[in-house]
Amino acid sequence: MSKNLLITGGAGFIGSHLVQLLVEKYKSYKIINLDCLTYAGNLENLKAVEGASNYFFEKVNLLDVAELERVFDEHNITDVIHLAAESHVDRSISDPLAFVNTNVIGTVNLLNVAKSKWTDLDKHLFYHVSTDEVYGSLDDGGFFTEETPYDPQSPYSASKAASDHFVRAYTNTYGLKTVITNCSNNYGPNQFPEKLIPLCIHNIRNNKPLPVYGKGENIRDWLYVVDHARAIDLIFHEGKVGETYNIGGFNEWKNIDIVKLLCKKMDEKLNRPTGTSEKLITYVKDRAGHDLRYAIDANKIKNELGWEPSLQFEEGISKTIDWYLENETWLNNVTSGNYQKYYSEHYQDR
Ligand code: NAD
Ligand code: DAU
Repeated sequence: MSKNLLITGGAGFIGSHLVQLLVEKYKSYKIINLDCLTYAGNLENLKAVEGASNYFFEKVNLLDVAELERVFDEHNITDVIHLAAESHVDRSISDPLAFVNTNVIGTVNLLNVAKSKWTDLDKHLFYHVSTDEVYGSLDDGGFFTEETPYDPQSPYSASKAASDHFVRAYTNTYGLKTVITNCSNNYGPNQFPEKLIPLCIHNIRNNKPLPVYGKGENIRDWLYVVDHARAIDLIFHEGKVGETYNIGGFNEWKNIDIVKLLCKKMDEKLNRPTGTSEKLITYVKDRAGHDLRYAIDANKIKNELGWEPSLQFEEGISKTIDWYLENETWLNNVTSGNYQKYYSEHYQDR
């Protein structure tokens, strides 16, 4: 069945991979990418699909309800996959209110518009993309399952937890059909170089210090971004309505070990003597309230829907490094700020 699918946050890291996957795979769908292009939104991520006849871009802020209503009306939106958010934990520590505005109020605005525009709620799905950080922090043992109680520890995770609660409340109270997924750390092309992996790749390339928070002992569970996009596609089409699914890489790494792996691989790729890049490692003040460990039990999506990560970590990291080295213009445009001109130069007078 054809759909007019609204994807929010499609100019960001994960959203851009999802938009590309869906535009190319579902030619009979209209894919409408709604994004207000914050510092994290980059339309250069979508060059591969910007000419496609089933792809539409709307520069709209989630806080602008009238504009959200216009987009629903003009495109006759049938379903939503909601990714737009403030996503960086460090920024949430310095400016929590920005996270309340977009992640909480923005999500409630979108829920309200969907609820008011969809007269037959049974025919529509609101898919909310969330994070494993809502579950809090693990010590050495155990995994986050779909039954783990919420215990968010940072302003970012508190705002995402609040948005998840609102989504469930709209199902319980109004009968909106929803699905929520909580995913672990993503890595891959198009990630803004404020996050650990692209920041280190960029700094190694430029012989700059690699800031490791605290002792580098914190553990994250890493997933290649395209595998996350594949999981969203699968759950959107085949997941059970009203359910939660955890998505993860079965792939835990201490931060310091990732940084050392990046150093080793980049020494090889840049023909530098072994050990050159490790000298850039610099231990810095720890992140306030730094969660120790995240680890997802992704057996529900594996057993019920047959999803598994397709890439081994070392292969994914290698592909990621190659992408950043081959796309120096992308990185230079991001660091210089030029990427923010892309919309006015390519879209405004369409
Ligand atoms: P990102 O920061 O790269 O992209 C976010 C996008 O949302 C940007 O394009 C930005 O312009 C847009 N946006 C922000 N505020 C907006 C607003 N008020 N109105 C309209 N658009 C707005 O984020 P990401 O890393 O791609 O994450 C996408 C989603 O996935 C988020 O909801 C995040 O919480 C979740 N998530 C991320 C990860 C990860 O490792 N990156 C893991 C699990 C879940
Ligand atoms: O778990 C899912 C979450 O993963 C997503 O919901 C978030 O949107 C995403 O940003 C990510 O959060 P993290 O805080 O885990 O990602 P980040 O890349 O910022 O940091 C990864 C780890 O590396 C974390 O333990 C902090 C550490 N770190 C990070 C940076 C930027 C450093 O040691 N040095 C750094 O410079």
